[in-house]
Amino acid sequence: MKVDLLQMVENGGCSAKISPKQLEEILKYLPLPQDPNILVDIDTHDDAGVYRVNDDLALVLTTDFFPPVCSDPYEFGQIAAANSISDVYAMGGTPVVALNIMMFPAAKLPMEAYAEILKGGYDMASEAGVRIIGGHTIDDYPPKYGLAVVGYIHPLKIITNSGAKPGDSLILTKQVGTGVILAGQRLGMSKEKDVLEAKKLMKIINKSGAEVMKKFNIKGATDITGFGLAGHALKMARASNVTINLNMKSVPLIGDTYKLLDEGCIPGAAFRNLDYAEKYTGFDEKLDYNLRMAAFDAQTSGGLLMSVPSEIVDKLLYELHSAGLTSSSIIGSVIGKGEKNLYLYM
Ligand code: CO
Ligand code: CO
Ligand code: CO
Repeated sequence: MKVDLLQMVENGGCSAKISPKQLEEILKYLPLPQDPNILVDIDTHDDAGVYRVNDDLALVLTTDFFPPVCSDPYEFGQIAAANSISDVYAMGGTPVVALNIMMFPAAKLPMEAYAEILKGGYDMASEAGVRIIGGHTIDDYPPKYGLAVVGYIHPLKIITNSGAKPGDSLILTKQVGTGVILAGQRLGMSKEKDVLEAKKLMKIINKSGAEVMKKFNIKGATDITGFGLAGHALKMARASNVTINLNMKSVPLIGDTYKLLDEGCIPGAAFRNLDYAEKYTGFDEKLDYNLRMAAFDAQTSGGLLMSVPSEIVDKLLYELHSAGLTSSSIIGSVIGKGEKNLYLYM
C-alpha cells in the first residue's frame, strides 16, 4: 500500500501551529518560573529555553511536532527532525540528545509508515550528531511527529531574539515559500520542481549556518518557522526593543511562490500570522499584496535570520555562501525603536 500522508491533513508542518495571537493570550495565564539559572524563558519568545547547569555549561531545551508536510513518511520524519533540531542551532547551541514525539493512527495506516517516519527522523538526527534515546507514541489521527531536543551551550554565548542592535544588517539563509508551495501541491497548482526544491530546503539542517554565526560571535538570531519571516522578525524586534526594516524585494523566494500567491494560493496560516503582527507593523504603500503575504507565509524548517554588525556582514555572507548556503542574502536592517517594531517595504 502506497501511503500518501499529505491527503490526511489540511494544515501540514508548521502551518498547523496555533495562531500567535491566541498563544500570546494563553501564555499570560502561565506564571514564569523564577530561578536564577533560567537564562532564557518564554518571555522573549525565543526558539528554545536555556538553563544553566554551572558556569561553563547550560542546557538548551526545545520541542516541535506537527502533522505531515509531505506525502512520503520517511521524508516527513526527516523534515520534522530537521525542524525540531533547528531551534537549538538558532540559539547557538550544539544539539546532543532527543526524544521522539509521535501520534500515529495504528488502525488507519500500515505500521511500516510508522517505522519509516521514525527512520527518517533517526537519519536526520544522526546527520546533526543527535542521539535519539527514547520517545512516546499516542494513537491519534492524523499522524504527528517531532522531537524534544536537548543541546549544550556556554552560558555566555547564547544567541537570542533580544540580541539585535541598531545598525545591524539582517541575513536570511534559506528561501521563503514552503507554506505556499505545499498548499499549492495539495491544490495541484505547484510545479513538481518547486515541490522538490521546497522539500530539499526543509531537509537542510541549520548546522552550517549556526557554525558561521558562532564563528562571528553573532548575538541575535532566530529560525524562520510557523509565524513566517515577518512574524519571527517581529518577535526579534520586540525582544530587542528595536525596529526591523525588511526589504521584501530582496527576500529570495522558492520558484513560483510569487505566481502562486498571485493566483490566490494563500494558506490560512499566513492570515493568522498577519492578524497577530498587524498592530506592530508598518507597510510601505508600494509593497504589493503578494509580497506582503509572502512575508507572513508559515515556513517549515526555514532558514536562520541573523542580526549582523555591518562591519562583518560581507565576510559572514561570504562564509555562508562557501558553506553551501548559496541563497543567503541581506534582506533588511535594524534601526532604533520607532513607532512600529517592523516595517515591510520594497
Ligand atoms: Co524557532
Ligand atoms: Co520551535
Ligand atoms: Co511515556
